[in-house]
Amino acid sequence: MIASTDYEVQLLNLPQPDFSIAKTDIHYLVNCAYQMSAFAGLHPVEAELTVGEELSRLARLSCHRQPSIEVLSYEDMILANPVQSDPRVYCLGAAGVEERDFCLGHQLIESELQLAIDALLELRDAAGADARECLAVCLEHLESANYVLTRFYEHMSPDLFGQFRVFYGKKPYKNRLGPSGRFSARIVAVSVLLVGEELFQQKPQFYRDVYRLSEYYPQGFIHEVFRWLSPDNRSAELTPTWLEGKADFPRSATISPVMERHGNGIGKLRASCVYALDQFTRMHRITALKHTVEPGRPIIGVEASESIEVVLSQRLLTAARP
Ligand code: HEM
Repeated sequence: MIASTDYEVQLLNLPQPDFSIAKTDIHYLVNCAYQMSAFAGLHPVEAELTVGEELSRLARLSCHRQPSIEVLSYEDMILANPVQSDPRVYCLGAAGVEERDFCLGHQLIESELQLAIDALLELRDAAGADARECLAVCLEHLESANYVLTRFYEHMSPDLFGQFRVFYGKKPYKNRLGPSGRFSARIVAVSVLLVGEELFQQKPQFYRDVYRLSEYYPQGFIHEVFRWLSPDNRSAELTPTWLEGKADFPRSATISPVMERHGNGIGKLRASCVYALDQFTRMHRITALKHTVEPGRPIIGVEASESIEVVLSQRLLTAARP
């Protein structure tokens, strides 16, 4: 089908919103062909033939137009997937509904995180910002994110989750990680803004992992966060000097300097935000254990050399009580 028409030109000329969906479709197809080949035990050469030269070329082209990892990404699956109007899913029936709702829940949480980030950016960057109001808005949206995540924990069927999860496993034949929530740039952004310095002191591995695995994140957004963390304008691609212990952590990326200017008055409100973010991480951890780790399902966003438990706790601070 693909060979019979010049889809390359069509793809390159699509307006951006349509292009993002087309890219998602292409990578859903490619991923499906590799996963099915692996289930069938095909040799890598046969797997390549199954995907086909034309589809592979379209996949490469789509990553050329919108730089991203060359396999199905978190951005394709969650951010570009039109789940409310025309969802892209692998499963039919009840498992397909659960799969769609899984993507939708992620989207809802991403929207709440964006609103929390907007409030924190205003606090950090706008001269006349009402600090109390910004933190109150941030808290409200972090609590909404927690609310959605708790519904996941309570209502998502581990059995149906297992049925669709197999399609999103680590990339067979490619030695690449799958589209995991680990690659949400907004989780990174909100963590940096709120507790960036404490995280660096207590969990420097978190930053090492974000830089090491940066190509898996939505590129535009993660590079924006890297720019905050690179106030000296050094190439945001490189591991920053502060992470190598050769410079101080760039506090200006976080709300800490603003908090100091305001004194103790709003400290309690910030502590409540930190607590809400920590609650998110704790609730997420028990959700991941219930649906993935304990039933022994594939882990898709953790490398073989890493410990799943360490990854699930990588952003938890030792003291986060308001
Ligand atoms: C039922 C819902 C969920 C389950 C079962 C789940 C499961 C997992 C698992 C197993 C991991 C380890 C890496 C992997 O294999 O993918 C992980 C990591 C991660 N997931 Fe999720 N996840 C869920 C929802 C979410 C949502 C809604 C978000 C937020 C956008 C999210 C963000 C993360 C993050 C940031 C990590 C890295 C660990 C951390 O920093 O806390 N997850 N998740």
